Amino acid sequence: MESLKTTTKDRYQQYVMGTYAPQMLLVKGEGAWVWDDAGKKYLDFGMGISVCNLGHCHPAVTEAIRRQSGILVHTSNLFMNEMQPLLAEKLVKCGFDGVAFFANSGAEANEGLIKFARKWGNPQGKNEIITMEDSFHGRTLATLAATGRAKYREGFQPDMPGFKQVKFNDIEALRNAITPQTAAVLLEPVQGEGGIIPATEGYLTQVRALCDEKNILLMFDEVQCGVGRTGTFFAFQNYNVVPDALSLAKAIGNGFPLGVMMVRKPYAGVLTVGAHASTFGGTPLACAAGCAVIDALQDGVLENCREQSRYLMEKLQTLAKRFPCVKAVRGKGLLIGVVLDGPASGLLPILNELGMIALTAGETVLRLLPPLIVNREECDLALEIIEQGLTKWSASNGG
Ligand SMILES: Cc1ncc(COP(=O)(O)O)c(C=O)c1O
Repeated sequence: MESLKTTTKDRYQQYVMGTYAPQMLLVKGEGAWVWDDAGKKYLDFGMGISVCNLGHCHPAVTEAIRRQSGILVHTSNLFMNEMQPLLAEKLVKCGFDGVAFFANSGAEANEGLIKFARKWGNPQGKNEIITMEDSFHGRTLATLAATGRAKYREGFQPDMPGFKQVKFNDIEALRNAITPQTAAVLLEPVQGEGGIIPATEGYLTQVRALCDEKNILLMFDEVQCGVGRTGTFFAFQNYNVVPDALSLAKAIGNGFPLGVMMVRKPYAGVLTVGAHASTFGGTPLACAAGCAVIDALQDGVLENCREQSRYLMEKLQTLAKRFPCVKAVRGKGLLIGVVLDGPASGLLPILNELGMIALTAGETVLRLLPPLIVNREECDLALEIIEQGLTKWSASNGG
């Protein structure tokens, strides 16, 4: 009899579009751990790309999904459902005084931000959006145009007009790029896909002041760095800079698809009835998952994130001193990048072999995204595996 892996692989090859090339078959997850079809256990420091922040199959989220799926799954937004405004209220209470629009993914939430900025700017003759080099905002045509890395746009020309990129963390570059047509600045407070690059202290304060001076909207893409990942619910709370609008997705459903655009109260009336819509956005089921995620985060999870972050960062810095192939360790909270002197993709199978899952960011950065509920023993194990992995990786690179 053929193995589950063989039949699954065959089905992928025959029936699934080849936009990804997955090699491992995962069958089960719990907390910081996943299992493959052969029963091998992996410490998961990828968490489905910063999605399962509460760990795999968090009991409270699983229970909320189970419960709500037996009550009411979908109504469309032509009807009210109890869960949607409840989640919006919880999000506001997490520290952003505004209103929410619900979508299903990060790209869709960012599309909402782009439409919001154009709707606000057009009556004033402003419809251009400035974004950052090395940024990532999604794979739809507008979010691709916003994305700083040109390689994602290759083959999909013409680019959607109305976007330009400037160097991140460089206030003069931004100042020079602003024109009377500039409606908004969109940026990730901590760049994820681009290489785990946090905004420098002071930069966001300067960007906020510049946007205020020029009457430009400041919008943060917190799809990857939001929902507790950096140790505060919103990443902007690390910087004490409040944007006019922001997007969340990924971890807000802990695996259940859910995206959110939020705008500050003074802008609540920009998108009026009929101006923007989504059939699935904000279903009772998705919002029940979102509510359970926010409730669970209140349970000391952010404190744990900050504590384990301090520990991991310190230990990784120490490790870096012993490995010349490690150029830097950077990040915020449990969004951590280990900058290497060569392509990081070669390290991933080595870590898999040793029983750990991690990701890359940019070309040379090992990206670590443990669940925010990770404990000290799991961090110690990860450090041990990374050390062994780096030894093998640098040897195979002739180092
Ligand atoms: C910062 C950021 N924005 C947007 C997106 C796109 O999100 P999605 O894949 O849910 O459309 C991502 C995905 O990695 C992201 O990291």
